[in-house]
Amino acid sequence: MSNSDAVMTPDQVQAATPSSANRTPEPLVMVIFAASGDLTKKKLLPALFHLAESGLLPKEFAVVGVARRDLSATFVPDMKKAIVDSGTKEDDPKLDEFLKQVSYFTTNFDDSAGYAKLKETLAGIDKNKGTKGNRLFYLAVAPEYFEEIVDKLGEQGMNREDKDATVRVVIEKPFGHDLDSARALNDAVAKVFAEDQTFRIDHYLGKETVQNILVFRFANALFEPIWNGQYIDNIQITAAESIGIEGRGPFYEKAGASRDILQNHMMEMLSFVAMEPPATYAAQGILEEKTKVFQAIQPLTTDTAVRGQYGPGQVSDGKGGTEAAKAYREEDRVDPHSVTETFAAVKLSIDTPRWKGVPFYVRAGKRLGKRVTEIVIALKPPAKQIFTGAKDGPCAGIPTDQIRIRIQPDEGITFIFGNKLPTPDTTICPVQSRFNYVDAFGKYTANGYERLLLDAMLGDATLFSHREAVEIAWALYTPLLQTWAEHPPTDFPNYASGSWGPKSADELLAKDNRSWHAV
Ligand code: BG6
Repeated sequence: MSNSDAVMTPDQVQAATPSSANRTPEPLVMVIFAASGDLTKKKLLPALFHLAESGLLPKEFAVVGVARRDLSATFVPDMKKAIVDSGTKEDDPKLDEFLKQVSYFTTNFDDSAGYAKLKETLAGIDKNKGTKGNRLFYLAVAPEYFEEIVDKLGEQGMNREDKDATVRVVIEKPFGHDLDSARALNDAVAKVFAEDQTFRIDHYLGKETVQNILVFRFANALFEPIWNGQYIDNIQITAAESIGIEGRGPFYEKAGASRDILQNHMMEMLSFVAMEPPATYAAQGILEEKTKVFQAIQPLTTDTAVRGQYGPGQVSDGKGGTEAAKAYREEDRVDPHSVTETFAAVKLSIDTPRWKGVPFYVRAGKRLGKRVTEIVIALKPPAKQIFTGAKDGPCAGIPTDQIRIRIQPDEGITFIFGNKLPTPDTTICPVQSRFNYVDAFGKYTANGYERLLLDAMLGDATLFSHREAVEIAWALYTPLLQTWAEHPPTDFPNYASGSWGPKSADELLAKDNRSWHAV
């Protein structure tokens, strides 16, 4: 399909959606802890409004924002502004209707009496709105509060389900800081909530383009047969951001790129690219195959991993120009001698028959050349090559035989293949064939939270992270992170803002006679 083939208008997409896809959850109250934070404003409330707008929320629904500061007078207007900022018209009548379901509750997270009052408040909402005792607790808090909140919910019996009411808890990443803390957190949560009540959210799994990886692979006879080391040379996964840490110094100082992105978002994407076909597209099948992939990954060492930190530089200003960016060490609430990595790249080897000898190069970083998340599948050349590529001119040196899955932005899939130039010889030139979401379906919403919130309300854990997989991913990264902590880098900052990361990232691939594909 080329860019000019608009196959569906948004109305046609809507009309093509089978009625079974319109899954409306049971009545419920969603309780958001840390409702005063950025995530609530930027992602959760806009996502909830879009669900409401699309008629996907139950009629009997309420949102209660919980935080320590008394924001009862400003919370709803603030949320209105946030939803408007996300692209909704201020006078949209559906917006005011939706906001009638939103309220605020002040308590300290360690205050038992506060939770007792919250319990009463929720019971009051059940009575007035018919929400039937169903609860979705969403912990949008800093990780150090997870245990405390879960514990207090348990203390008040707010974790208990009965035959008529379901209670679920959604926990935001990061799930732990290393293997031990992840286990401790999982144990603490498990004391209060059963695993099937626990939804560990990784918003990358909510992205259409990430979900589509499995469809692309397993629903198309064209790709499944070549998805292995016989035909694939290497796979590169890049998650580049042009932004810096956006005022999140205290969080980022403890996280760094490895804990913030690699151990979770990148591993989830990699699992979809690498897993064997699951028995069914359901939580258990996906978990089993994901776990097998993670278990087959060979240990990471300092030979297969590099780190970097941005210095000052010029970054895109989003309007076609550039602007000056300061070094990570000069960011607000960041140690001026910080050794936290803002870039990390790893080479992963998956020891399974399918992937033997196929390196997966994975990199993520802040303040890189542009914002792009892409998976590049580089195919091996045909066994017998009767044509040679162009030796000079514009066709020379461009790689052919690639499948590029663009996760964001400009979501789509591109094939790059060699084509004969229409000249009287056999010069081969790489050409592209591209499918993109906007042209094909008219619209694309990148906020993965809509899908995941809906799934959590429905109790569908297919697109969530599970205890076992999270712990295996930590088991892979923890030894590397320990070694890095024991040997602080001496060359930070080692890449300029606006560049593509440190030299060591290029060297990582150069050792294998490869280089990063431009994204
Ligand atoms: C979050 C990280 O999980 O993902 C952020 O904490 C990062 O540091 C963000 O910016 C990236 O998400 P997206 O959807 O913009 O790629």
